Amino acid sequence: MKKDIKNILVTGGLGQIGSELIGELRKKYGANNVVASDMHDASDSMKNKGPFHILDIKDIATFEKLINDYKIDTIVHLAAILSGVGEKNPALAWDVNMNGSINVLNLGLKYEMAQIFIPSSIAVWGPDCPKNALQDSPLHPTTMYGVTKVAGEVLCDYYFNKYGLDVRGVRFPGIISAETPPGGGTTDYAVEIFYEAVKNNKYTCFVREDTKLPMMYMPDCLKSVIDLMAAPVENLKHHSSFNLGSMSFNVKTLADSVKKYMPGFEIDYLPDFRQSIADSWPDTVVDTSAREEWGWMPSYDLDSMTRDMLEKLKIKHQNALI
Ligand code: NAD
Ligand code: SER
Repeated sequence: MKKDIKNILVTGGLGQIGSELIGELRKKYGANNVVASDMHDASDSMKNKGPFHILDIKDIATFEKLINDYKIDTIVHLAAILSGVGEKNPALAWDVNMNGSINVLNLGLKYEMAQIFIPSSIAVWGPDCPKNALQDSPLHPTTMYGVTKVAGEVLCDYYFNKYGLDVRGVRFPGIISAETPPGGGTTDYAVEIFYEAVKNNKYTCFVREDTKLPMMYMPDCLKSVIDLMAAPVENLKHHSSFNLGSMSFNVKTLADSVKKYMPGFEIDYLPDFRQSIADSWPDTVVDTSAREEWGWMPSYDLDSMTRDMLEKLKIKHQNALI
């Protein structure tokens, strides 16, 4: 039986996903019932929209104070180190991603929380995964970020099976958005291309033009979290590891989509260490379980996303915000 979600704490709330998800959660659950947090301080405009507190996810005392002060019954745990930064500093990725998640799960248990949401990633897969990843394809990642995501999924399922803690999560593809730049992942090129197109009408991409990965536009990402969090628990056969598909394209196809709206846009390629990370991930994912168990259905395709991204970023550029 699903407990009601009333008061939510979001960790890592100033990042690419959190900076937009907090607004969506506040629309559904009420501005004062969603507490934003991050290890860094927030802008005044963020603080004016609802409660914000500085929280390092390894600081249990501050975590517990916030849980008690705001009667928190749900944690949306977004604080993490992503794949690019994680490969440069694997010890940091292990420390933040694993200790952060275990702290969140233990607090969820201690305070008998209604729900914990922890995202996973397409990084759970490695070179032995079929190019079209199934829900149950083998999980043999070759990055530390991927190792922490696999261990995180297994840990979440352990807390569900052993203690009945309602933990949920999806394997996000690369998320593309115009609000907050991404925080150091391999799929960042698919965001940078839009910023550089608007600013300079050219982009030097850090992976080859034939690199193909699963991607998703932010409005679909937000919808997925809101919808999965609201799903009846008895409908779920999976919990923390839902494959989530939306669109897949290689960089050349992405660049052609940008060129359609930015004539004269130029792209060249200077692959770096992130090429081998990208090569180790699948091209596409099969998300039948998410569709069947909680009605997942993405809305955007490449063309509608490109139009919306360029429109938003051109306005930001005109206002000197990027
Ligand atoms: P991000 O890097 O943009 O944001 C992460 C936030 O965590 C940052 O604001 C950072 O300051 C904060 N943080 C880092 N260490 C912290 C600590 N010790 N204590 C508190 N806060 C800390 O990441 P994101 O893109 O918003 O990702 C959110 C979640 O979604 C992560 O679990 C990530 O693995 C997952 N995910 C993201 C993508 C994507 O493309 N953005 C894809 C797959 C999965
Ligand atoms: N966007 C993320 C990354 O590249 C995928 O989890 O790290």
